[in-house]
Amino acid sequence: MKHIYSIAFIALVSIFFAPVSQAQEGMWLMHTLEEINEESMQNSGFRLTADDIYDINNASIKDAIIRLNGGSCTAEVISSQGLVLTNHHCAYGAIQGFSSPENDYLTDGFFALSKDEEKHIEGFEVSFLVSIDDITARVLANVTNEMSEDERNEAIASAKGEISAEYTEGDSNGYQYEINSFYYGNEFYMFIYNTYSDIRLVAAPPESVGKYGGDTDNWMWPRHTGDFSMLRIYSDADNNPADFAETNVPYTPKRHLNISMEGVNNGDFTMVMGYPGSTDRFLSSWGIEQALALHNPSVVDVRALKLSTMKEHMDADLGVRIQYAAKYAQTANYWKYYIGQSKGLKALDVQSQKQAIEQKFTEWVASSTDRQAEYGDALQLIEAYYTATDATAKADAYALEAGLIGSDITLFAVRFGRTAPGLFSEDADQVEATKARLSDLCDAFFKDYDMSTDRDLFTNLMSKYKTDIAPEYLPSFFATVDDKYKGSISRYASKMYSKSFLVNEESARAFIETPSEKALEKDLAVAAAMSILQTYFGSMESEAQDKFDEGYRLFVKGLREMQPNKAFYPDANSTMRCTYGPVGDYSPADAVQYDFVTTTDGILQKMDNSNPEFVVPERLEELLVARDFGQYADENGELIVCFLHGTDITGGNSGSPVMNANGDLIGLAFDGNWEAMSGDIAFEHDLQRTISVDIRYVLWIVDKFAGATNIIDELDLIYETPEMAAPAMELVD
Ligand code: ARG
Repeated sequence: MKHIYSIAFIALVSIFFAPVSQAQEGMWLMHTLEEINEESMQNSGFRLTADDIYDINNASIKDAIIRLNGGSCTAEVISSQGLVLTNHHCAYGAIQGFSSPENDYLTDGFFALSKDEEKHIEGFEVSFLVSIDDITARVLANVTNEMSEDERNEAIASAKGEISAEYTEGDSNGYQYEINSFYYGNEFYMFIYNTYSDIRLVAAPPESVGKYGGDTDNWMWPRHTGDFSMLRIYSDADNNPADFAETNVPYTPKRHLNISMEGVNNGDFTMVMGYPGSTDRFLSSWGIEQALALHNPSVVDVRALKLSTMKEHMDADLGVRIQYAAKYAQTANYWKYYIGQSKGLKALDVQSQKQAIEQKFTEWVASSTDRQAEYGDALQLIEAYYTATDATAKADAYALEAGLIGSDITLFAVRFGRTAPGLFSEDADQVEATKARLSDLCDAFFKDYDMSTDRDLFTNLMSKYKTDIAPEYLPSFFATVDDKYKGSISRYASKMYSKSFLVNEESARAFIETPSEKALEKDLAVAAAMSILQTYFGSMESEAQDKFDEGYRLFVKGLREMQPNKAFYPDANSTMRCTYGPVGDYSPADAVQYDFVTTTDGILQKMDNSNPEFVVPERLEELLVARDFGQYADENGELIVCFLHGTDITGGNSGSPVMNANGDLIGLAFDGNWEAMSGDIAFEHDLQRTISVDIRYVLWIVDKFAGATNIIDELDLIYETPEMAAPAMELVD
């Protein structure tokens, strides 16, 4: 009944009003929700208040939302025993870390059937947001308009130092204090976190569920991926953070999310909270030009070579496939992202949209002498930055993509090379500490290193670097290659991978025990890595950078002043945000309409066991064919896999909870759609969608596929919310 009601009503509405399925732009900050968003959220169907989301005196929804590993992903607490839900791709490295050809959890999945089977994940941590303070006035107290950028940066750094010291000294909780800049240096907030570091793996489906569709389906709809995993937070006996210990106990959260079994209808209110990493919504038309012409094609090109090089080795050896699985997925994710971003920027002519805004800004500035005095230079500075960096933009992209993060030895050699001098200290304590640090570096590096793969990566990527970039922008070690190795990277690599003490575990560890300054100085891997590092950072401290900083700071300040009635939100910067918008289908192209849900039928339709990306294991196939969906089916007996909704998310939001109008969990956000890949630069109301996995599919996998009823028993499942039975009318006014 409810279903029919709302669909009929929505059909009616869309004739007379704007389409219901318009996505809602905005990554809103927690402490301004009441002022800026509460009314609009409630008008869109939200049944709670801003206080229910963010309240520093009482438990609120924000206490269930966590930052994973400093902001690489988001996660949420879903039981009173510290059980945590996030994406499969967010725990991918951890799942890989526990895997070997004999015990391949990537392929087979992992489900702890009791707490003692849960696996401690080295290096994982989760942070709870305690509160946010606006410290803008204090940070800018000594800044004047007359200051140079250097003076300004110094004044800000010293104010930040003082404020941080004050907070840290007054701390009795072991909290972390982080200052973030917003609106390009116009506002500053202090974020206070409480971080737990005993995190254990509880559940991960096989890749054939958690990464179903692989890179082919990545960033795309229709989607059939069960991109989830589960972790648990452990604390000491007093519920406080503690290093890993067998005696630690499951953490008792202030707040956890209840799970709604009701599913979604078109037009339903949804809300997502999490840690979006970075957006460029104020990017200028010149910035778009540079991205399209220079940055994006470079990243795509270099990554394509990196991927094909890794793949050759991964296909040949299961051990290498496991070792390189996470590296490969990460590289592929943003390789495809930049292909899509360029496509979207062109197709949607984002540059013209930006030019129109800049034109308006120019007129607004010109119409008053005060504005001319304050903002008159903003756009010229921005333009001058891009003019000055056009010559190096491609080289800078290569320094990072082919150089620093190209072959794995480079970053390892940088870290090792910068730490190792401590071995030659007079101070015995420092020598011991350095040994321990270097040994940790070795642990982390060699676990996922295959020499012959790395050597091919080094040779292929450096050769491309040398061919594509003009000599004056190349790191200095390329001159050595020319002088001593007849210009051949292969020759350099031959020598480096046989002589460097860093290229194999035994010699690297032996060096730590019996270090030699001379060996360090002469090492070919260290030499190459350090010269790449110098090139990379050298390009970042420049006059041009000052133009960028000042230009955008003024432009963004002016834009806000120009539109006093517009609600602004700052670019994503890995701080907690809330976004909301309706469940909704979309039209990706002329004559094509995409539904807002996918079902398990699609899994079987895409199934192709000869293609690793579309394998459906036998057991899953049987269960899907039998259609034993139990309590997880929708009213038509279908099991919904993924759904679309018009919220505003980006990388870092992965794993964020999707909540309904009552704040109950209905899904898990994991991706965006192909037609709106330029969305990090300009939000697309008609096209941009969040792709989420339906929580009922997650639970079906846990329950029916894995038989982990111990997990289901921990959850608070909400079967029917009386208030929700009203027609979805309020959603649209
Ligand atoms: N595009 C997703 C994101 O950036 C990652 C999906 C991971 N899946 C994959 N096939 N690599 O959040």
